[in-house]
Amino acid sequence: MYDFVADPAQPKPAFYRELLAAADALTAGEPDAIANMANLAALVWQLVPELNWAGFYRVLDGELVLGPFCGKPACIRIPLGRGVCGSAAALGETQLVADVHAFPGHIACDAASRSELVVPIIREGAVIAVIDLDSPRPARFDPEDRAGFEALAAVVANRI
Ligand code: SME
Repeated sequence: MYDFVADPAQPKPAFYRELLAAADALTAGEPDAIANMANLAALVWQLVPELNWAGFYRVLDGELVLGPFCGKPACIRIPLGRGVCGSAAALGETQLVADVHAFPGHIACDAASRSELVVPIIREGAVIAVIDLDSPRPARFDPEDRAGFEALAAVVANRI
């Protein structure tokens, strides 16, 4: 078992530097995408506070398909453009949603979710997957979380 630590009480930029270093170390040299996504989901779940879901959706044949995650069982297929994840994938842009109930088309996989951060993972100009984070706390995510997960997405884009 790997034992990575990152103190969530420290300022977020420092926390995300540590999370990124752990994600890099965990996936470096491993070519299997599923193994890497599974370990990344577990790492995020372990270290990032106030989440009720953390994981991946992959772009396959023009739709999003559930990938490795931690949390309750979730919707398996999401059309591009639909919900928070589908919007992030279709636009190729991060979606930071303070109140999921106010987001048109939000897909409620877990009724506990109140806010959400979805970051596209882009390889050679194409969205290949998204990282989806759900929180039971409204407005859980801020621009520093966004920057942290966008940096993580860039590091893992060639490893998933
Ligand atoms: N809420 C998401 C669906 C995925 S689950 O949160 C895991 C959405 O609207 O895209």
